[in-house]
Amino acid sequence: MKIRKAIIPAAGYGTRFLPATKSMPKEMLPIIDKPTIQYIVEEAVKSGITDILIITNSQKSSIENYFDRSWELEGFLKHSGKEKELELVKSISNIANLYSVRQKEQKGLGHAILCAKSFVGDEPFAVLLGDDIVDNDRDPAISQLIRAYEKTNSSVVGVQRVPFYDLNKYGIIDPVDKTNTSLVEIKGMVEKPQENAPSNYAVLGRYILTPKIFELLETQEPGVGGEIQLTDAIRRLTEFEKVYACEFSGTRYDVGTKRGFLEATVAFALKRDDLKDDMEDIIIDRVANRKMRK
Ligand code: G1P
Repeated sequence: MKIRKAIIPAAGYGTRFLPATKSMPKEMLPIIDKPTIQYIVEEAVKSGITDILIITNSQKSSIENYFDRSWELEGFLKHSGKEKELELVKSISNIANLYSVRQKEQKGLGHAILCAKSFVGDEPFAVLLGDDIVDNDRDPAISQLIRAYEKTNSSVVGVQRVPFYDLNKYGIIDPVDKTNTSLVEIKGMVEKPQENAPSNYAVLGRYILTPKIFELLETQEPGVGGEIQLTDAIRRLTEFEKVYACEFSGTRYDVGTKRGFLEATVAFALKRDDLKDDMEDIIIDRVANRKMRK
C-alpha cells in the first residue's frame, strides 16, 4: 500500500530553548528564515506524502496559523507590489493537506503517536520527528524509508551509526544480522540504554509503521522517564511482524540541542547563494580573531 500519510509530533515543551519557547513553539524557531517544522514538512512532501497530521498542544496554535492562509499579510504584499513575497507566503499554505490534533497530556512519544490513530486508519504511515533535520536534497530520508517499506512490506526505522558516548540518548536497534546494516531485520530495540547497547545504530527520527502499532501503543506500559515510549511498542511489534532498520544517507542535525541548531544554521546558510559569502566571511573573521586572542 502506498504511503500517503505522515505524522509529525510537535507537542513537547522545548525546555532546552527556554526562554524563547515560553511563548513560541520550538518547531517555529527558524533556521535562517524558515521554521524548523517546515524543513520536515518539505521532506515529507518531496517524498510523496500528501496528508500530514501535526500532533500539537494548546500552546502551539502558531504552527497551525503558519500553514494557514494569511489574508491580511497577503493583501498587504499585493498592495505593495511584493509579488515574490506574496507567492512565497501563499505557497506555504498550499504545501500539503495539513491537519492537527492536540495531545492532551504529555505522556511521551508513543502516546503522541497514538493520538493519530483515527487519522491514520488502516494503512501504513510515516513518522518524522521535528528535532531531526536530515539534509539530503537528492533523496530525502523518509523517501529512502518508503522504498525500504515497498521492498519489505514491513515497518522500517531509519538509523545511522552514532558514537559510543551518545548511545544513551537514542532508541538503539538490535539487528538480526550485525554485518549488514543498509537494510536489516531487527529483533528488538532499546530506548536510551545506559549500558549493554545492542548495537551502535540509533533511530534518528524517521519511521514507517504499520497500523498494528496502535494496538500495541494502547496497551503500552510507561518505560524510560515514566513515558509511553514508541521504541517499546516497536520492540513488541517485532513479536508479531517483521520490522526492518534502514541506514539512510544524509546529514542529520539534532536541532533539539543548541549545538545542533547552530550547526544546521551554519550549514544551511553555506548552501544558499544569497548567504554563502556572508557566512564564510563571518566564520573566517571569527576564526582569525580567535587566533589573535590566543
Ligand atoms: C526520541 C525517541 C528515540 C529516538 C530519538 C531520535 O527521543 O524516543 O528513540 O532515537 O527521538 O531523535 P527524544 O529525543 O525525544 O528523547
